Amino acid sequence: MTKKLRVALLFGGNSSEHDVSKRSAHNIYDAMDKDKYDVSLFMFTKDGILLSNEYSQRIFDGEAEADVVKEAYDNMDLDRPLAPIMALNEMEGIDFFYPVIHGNLGEDGTVQGLFKLLNKPYIGSNIAASAMSFDKDLTKKILNEAGIRNTPYVLLTPENKDEYSWEQIEEKLGNLVFIKPAKQGSSVGIHRVTNAEEYSAALEDAFKYDFKVLAEKGLDRPQEVEISILGNEQPIASKLGAVRVPDSDAFYDYENKFVDASGVVFDLPVKLPDYLTEEITDMALKAYKALDMKGLSRIDFLVDSNNVPYLSEPNTLPGFTNISLYPQMWEVSGISYPDLIDRLIKLGLDEYERNSKIKYDFRELGTERVGKKNYN
Ligand SMILES: Nc1ncnc2c1ncn2[C@@H]1O[C@H](COP(=O)(O)OP(=O)(O)O)[C@@H](O)[C@H]1O
Ligand SMILES: [Mg+2]
Repeated sequence: MTKKLRVALLFGGNSSEHDVSKRSAHNIYDAMDKDKYDVSLFMFTKDGILLSNEYSQRIFDGEAEADVVKEAYDNMDLDRPLAPIMALNEMEGIDFFYPVIHGNLGEDGTVQGLFKLLNKPYIGSNIAASAMSFDKDLTKKILNEAGIRNTPYVLLTPENKDEYSWEQIEEKLGNLVFIKPAKQGSSVGIHRVTNAEEYSAALEDAFKYDFKVLAEKGLDRPQEVEISILGNEQPIASKLGAVRVPDSDAFYDYENKFVDASGVVFDLPVKLPDYLTEEITDMALKAYKALDMKGLSRIDFLVDSNNVPYLSEPNTLPGFTNISLYPQMWEVSGISYPDLIDRLIKLGLDEYERNSKIKYDFRELGTERVGKKNYN
């Protein structure tokens, strides 16, 4: 029998999707073939501290998280500079990292940097692709460079925001605008605004979450369409899915996403005109390559009333619960949940292998021959 791959499943994290991540981790753990994988669990707390396998396992098994975290902290010297990553000591024998951390730490390049330092393969995009795809301003810059349609926007910062009155924003973007922190997710800090009062209140809130805030041209009640992409250099696309929020709700906000999703309908797959399906699929695959994504991504679109699609955002580590769209769109496209996990691990191993061929060259400096300086 071949040796089992020792996989560390990392979950939790300090974003609003902490609990979603726990649920995703459960589903992934259950679906992983234990004849092939030897899985150990490690949780990042809501403070971003990595817990040991034992505490993580207890939380995973259903003990009250707050109690276990308290016990763990009591037994840790949190003043030690390496306290947040002390549990790495237990990962000596790990062959492969499986991060299921949505948002901060997981999708912004942070843990990918750690895996790179440890020189181990992992699931998903690398540091730069994760960071670019997590930052809505950087994403749009790359999409614009690649000629992929997305909504026009103005980047606001604490330094320039006073230069943009509501009237100026309205003149540039129209009278329906979305205000968003650049690096958040879960619709946190996002506001739909149509007048000066709403604009200033939205800015005040959005700047709590980031120093970069986007004022983005709003589409009026767009259709929200999503697609799953899988692969490295030759990515494949799933059928499309759609999310329908109740008419009474202005948009897909934190409330109807996480608090009470009972009025939300997911169309799996969604039936759209062929030309639109094709355009969305092409845009998604093009964006996947432009942003240099690897492994997986769920790419979200907004479609206006004239059936014109705008790329809204990529999600490099999307939800993986059994009702999450990423795996479900594959399910309806013919790839089962356990098969998807096998493929993602294989893609991570392939990407690691590919990168190991990159040459790092060192040249000794020898006798330095430096340029002359001319001080004036
Ligand atoms: N330009 C826009 N026009 C219309 N609705 C929008 C626009 N931008 C965002 N939304 C609404 O806000 C939701 C969250 O925005 P999104 O950019 O996806 O942020 P998050 O990363 O928090 O999911 C979208 O699913 C959509 O309902
Ligand atoms: Mg979104």
